[in-house]
Amino acid sequence: MAKVSQFALVSLAICLSSLLGLAVAAEEKFIVEGKVYCDTCRVEFETKISQPIKGALVNLECRNRTDIRTITLTKDVVTDKAGAYKIAVEGDHEEEICDVSLVKSPRADCNDPTEAWRKSRVVLTTKDGVDGPQRYANNLGFKRKQALPECVQVLKEIGYYEVEEEEGHSHSP
Ligand SMILES: *[C@@H]1O[C@H](CO)[C@@H](O)[C@H](O)[C@H]1NC(C)=O
Repeated sequence: MAKVSQFALVSLAICLSSLLGLAVAAEEKFIVEGKVYCDTCRVEFETKISQPIKGALVNLECRNRTDIRTITLTKDVVTDKAGAYKIAVEGDHEEEICDVSLVKSPRADCNDPTEAWRKSRVVLTTKDGVDGPQRYANNLGFKRKQALPECVQVLKEIGYYEVEEEEGHSHSP
């Protein structure tokens, strides 16, 4: 009799834990990842001398797709020494529009959000064909107050000035 009830208890425990497992699996979980840089050349794109920013504040915000004024999720995160951040998000957000954006830079010499890379859209649903929990946001960047002197050389190497001339701009970083 004792054996029987022990068996019953064990099966009950197994049954319960697999039920719990199912409940967890049904709830989507995403990891939003990205990096924050200092745009040391003030060109609004990443160069080889862009610098990762540690301690930058980044915000993830989701809004209701049909009622854009309603914020459904907001999370702040601070970048690590590689300028990287990870934000864990629960649930499926198919009916929402989610963006990560720059909030604050810890560097007084590099705290001006760039136009082009201050914000990045992230898709937090598996219903649009993207599988897996990892969601990569585009890198975000603050502009340095003044371009570094090395920028001239770095930008020359990638043909930046030729393009500028073709486009009829006269621009020096
Ligand atoms: C979004 O807003 C609409 C209209 O107010 C509402 O019916 C819907 O449930 C909301 N969706 C989410 C995901 O909050």
